[in-house]
Amino acid sequence: LNHLFHFVLFLLRLLILWSSGVYHFIKEKKSWNEAQRYCREKYTDLAKVFDMTDMSRLRNSAQNQGEAWIGLNNNTGGNRTWHWSLPGVEYIHNDSSWNLNGRYGTEPGPGNCGRKRDKLAEVSCNHTTWFICYDDKKTLNLIEEKKNWTQAQNYCRYHHTDLASGLDQVDGEEMKALFIGRTMSVWMGLFRDSWRWSDRSNSSFRYWDMQLFNDEQSNKKCAMTLLNRSGKWSSDECDKEKPFFCYDDKLILIKENKTWKEALDYCRESHRGLVSITNPYQQRWAEVRAKNASSPFVWLGLRYSCTLDLWFWVNDKLVCYEKWSREGKTEECGRAVGMMRGGQYEWVSQRDNETYNFVCFK
Ligand SMILES: *[C@@H]1O[C@H](CO)[C@@H](O)[C@H](O)[C@H]1NC(C)=O
Ligand SMILES: *[C@@H]1O[C@H](CO)[C@@H](O)[C@H](O)[C@H]1NC(C)=O
Ligand SMILES: *[C@@H]1O[C@H](CO)[C@@H](O)[C@H](O)[C@H]1NC(C)=O
Ligand SMILES: *[C@@H]1O[C@H](CO)[C@@H](O)[C@H](O)[C@H]1NC(C)=O
Ligand SMILES: *[C@@H]1O[C@H](CO)[C@@H](O)[C@H](O)[C@H]1NC(C)=O
Ligand SMILES: *[C@@H]1O[C@H](CO)[C@@H](O)[C@H](O)[C@H]1NC(C)=O
Ligand SMILES: *[C@@H]1O[C@H](CO)[C@@H](O)[C@H](O)[C@H]1NC(C)=O
Ligand SMILES: *[C@@H]1O[C@H](CO)[C@@H](O)[C@H](O)[C@H]1NC(C)=O
Ligand SMILES: *[C@@H]1O[C@H](CO)[C@@H](O)[C@H](O)[C@H]1NC(C)=O
Ligand SMILES: *[C@@H]1O[C@H](CO)[C@@H](O)[C@H](O)[C@H]1NC(C)=O
Repeated sequence: LNHLFHFVLFLLRLLILWSSGVYHFIKEKKSWNEAQRYCREKYTDLAKVFDMTDMSRLRNSAQNQGEAWIGLNNNTGGNRTWHWSLPGVEYIHNDSSWNLNGRYGTEPGPGNCGRKRDKLAEVSCNHTTWFICYDDKKTLNLIEEKKNWTQAQNYCRYHHTDLASGLDQVDGEEMKALFIGRTMSVWMGLFRDSWRWSDRSNSSFRYWDMQLFNDEQSNKKCAMTLLNRSGKWSSDECDKEKPFFCYDDKLILIKENKTWKEALDYCRESHRGLVSITNPYQQRWAEVRAKNASSPFVWLGLRYSCTLDLWFWVNDKLVCYEKWSREGKTEECGRAVGMMRGGQYEWVSQRDNETYNFVCFK
């Protein structure tokens, strides 16, 4: 019985994951730019991939075994930007964490990977050194094996979660403790590349097939997934014609200021209702939309019922995922939820007569 219960839970979770944004595999061969135009017209954009879960969803949405474009390209004139390896951690530069001339002794560079000694410095990614893995159990682990950056990342993703990422981890107390009594240079989950997603999101997830992909091949500026190499990525010339993946977030931002009730009516009349968020994936799709709002918050379909004394989604979904800001959960009559337009995109309860932009299901 216990097994059955867990199986049903498992099916429910699958259902929830699959009911958010979806990938579409388009068999028809097109150049990267034509594929982008097609996806923007029919869906949202060429596929972006946020993490390994997205990657399996993408892979499972095609039977094909060849190559297919995804929405990542190198048309940035070689302008590299820093990213953290752990998906979802945004890179925010802070001079005080860096030692700009900080390479020591035999460290080659300047390069495109970040290591920490007392501070961060940019070193060639082929340098081999110890490294620090972050584990979901909220711990950092020093690995005393010399590896280059890519090997270190693979090791951490296999045995733990990822390389240590974000200044909270890199400059935090736990990190400081690992350095006590040691002078060492160790890899952090920091890398710099010139690849950008078609939808301009800063997602840092990369899944290169290191045997086929070479970050120096300058005429191959568009990324594809190799479905017969477990979906790993390589690059090719953008005018070659290939099948491709689009994604559809099924959301639309309405850039008009309305009260919560007006927003609710508008979405019901013109679309498929005011957005509800029941998992981290839906939260992320909604964040991308909220980013473009003209008001500081966007309405979500979440409202407080003072007769029942609880929060509920207007489409009858249970509140099983939450992203409240620390002091944002005010439980009073006449309250509904606005998602912040930036930062952590947290939820803050608002008087429902305030007027904000809002997100509908398309
Ligand atoms: C993948 O499969 C396609 C067609 O089935 C084949 O042409 C291609 O060479 C294969 N690629 C690799 C890397 O095995
Ligand atoms: C990306 O583009 C830049 C500038 O055009 C080039 O230097 C770099 O080698 C390219 N990388 C790849 C993998 O093509
Ligand atoms: C390169 O990126 C930096 C930081 O994102 C930006 O300030 C700069 O304008 C970019 N340069 C070019 C040529 O795109
Ligand atoms: C940079 O880091 C320092 C020290 O941790 C902190 O005091 C400062 O507020 C940070 N600056 C920014 C812009 O985040
Ligand atoms: C890291 O080492 C692996 C295996 O030796 C190699 O294939 C790869 O090219 C190296 N990466 C870099 C950035 O040097
Ligand atoms: C590592 O990269 C540096 C600079 O990019 C280069 O000089 C060196 O030959 C490379 N070493 C290896 C083993 O590939
Ligand atoms: C990407 O990051 C830059 C700063 O690093 C930020 O200004 C920009 O808004 C971000 N873009 C998106 C779409 O998140
Ligand atoms: C944000 O707004 C700009 C300008 O109106 C538009 O080009 C872009 O596609 C919008 N992005 C999203 C994710 O809606
Ligand atoms: C919506 O309200 C904000 C202030 O909250 C204002 O800056 C913005 O221009 C308004 N947008 C529209 C489309 O009226
Ligand atoms: C919203 O309602 C509250 C109490 O009912 C009132 O004090 C406030 O002024 C109203 N705000 C707006 C923007 O109408």
